[in-house]
Amino acid sequence: MHTTQVTEGIYRLSANAQDMLFEGIWPIPNGVSMNSYIVKGEKIAIIDGVCGWDGVPETLYAQFDSMGLDINDIDYVIVNHLEPDHSGWLETFKTMRSEFQIITSEKGKPLLEAFYGITENIRTVKTGDSVDLGDGRVLAFAEIPNVHWPETMATFDTKSGTLFPCDAFGSFGKIGDAPYDDQLTDEDLAFFEKEAVRYYSNIVAAFCLPVQKAIQAVESLPVKIIAPGHGLVWRKNPKKIIDDYKRYASYSKGPAKAEVTFIWGSMYGNTQQGVEPVIKALEEEGVKVHVHQVPESPLGDILASIWNSTGVVLGMPTYEYKMFPPMYMVLDELGKKRVLNRKAFRFGSYGWSGGAQKELETLNAHLKMHWDFLEPHEFKGRPTDTDIDILVDRARQLARDVKEMVANAPALD
Ligand code: FEO
Repeated sequence: MHTTQVTEGIYRLSANAQDMLFEGIWPIPNGVSMNSYIVKGEKIAIIDGVCGWDGVPETLYAQFDSMGLDINDIDYVIVNHLEPDHSGWLETFKTMRSEFQIITSEKGKPLLEAFYGITENIRTVKTGDSVDLGDGRVLAFAEIPNVHWPETMATFDTKSGTLFPCDAFGSFGKIGDAPYDDQLTDEDLAFFEKEAVRYYSNIVAAFCLPVQKAIQAVESLPVKIIAPGHGLVWRKNPKKIIDDYKRYASYSKGPAKAEVTFIWGSMYGNTQQGVEPVIKALEEEGVKVHVHQVPESPLGDILASIWNSTGVVLGMPTYEYKMFPPMYMVLDELGKKRVLNRKAFRFGSYGWSGGAQKELETLNAHLKMHWDFLEPHEFKGRPTDTDIDILVDRARQLARDVKEMVANAPALD
């Protein structure tokens, strides 16, 4: 990984992480980049940081060397966000250099002490505050709470129009020698859009309202470049990632795309007998179908699919008078991630008694998911041909409803 110039006086430093679980939970099959930025005026600031997932920042220091930057040249460390993927390098940095000032939000200050024992040389800022680096370079700050933690802020370079929003407008996907949107093909951009949906749905989904407020704040600024803490730097078309994030935020309440996520699990293959006929019926109605089996599919994959989907099919048996447990765990997390207002259908087998449906309805109400269910269909033991015909009819109805909801969705501002 080498250092690249974003624009005059601003440089991107970055490292890729892979073969690990992001936040200890989320698989990242295509990795993730962690970006840091050096901003040069007469004084020098570093915005956020880069470190290995174990908190060791050798990669960052090697990039200082590669650009001829002495660690003692850094005057300001701007901490937009205290989550350790961005701030984990500070503990060793402060042992190597003591004469610098940390700039962070008021809520960031106690976290500096809690995570790294740092209590000195901290300046707290709020929206509207700024720091003058000299040479016409002024960095202005804006609080964007809960994107993704309460202390998060964004930094804006008024000279170049570069916004550093940390987690906002980020994506998964490791990045090689082409970190800028103006260097990429449409195919590359399509890859990163998928990675952005995975990132948004896994990491940011629970905070859609704060994201929408942050977007409003950003749109009041003369932004020419967006340089996030993860993923691509947008200097050709920053509006694209802003518009994409508007869309992702809107998908929480739906409708999303004319797609259906089908989540199923089966104990002895009886519920499973409905899976292929339902997929076929959905596809024949012209909707894209994402299929996930539980407990095998990673939750992160399911979230990425369902975030784009207006419709949901759940295939699960009753298990000890309740829902099939891995399905319960998935739905509980979907509710907490605010996957709301989906058009849904559930089917499944039972033995001596039902019960899954009742628990599903209770969970839907408890988490205020407002999923609108078609009439469920349950069968005792294995499904008959008549049962399969009913599943097919319901799947077709669901697909038609999904298409209608998407067609009638209001346009975003
Ligand atoms: Fe990339 Fe919320 O940290």
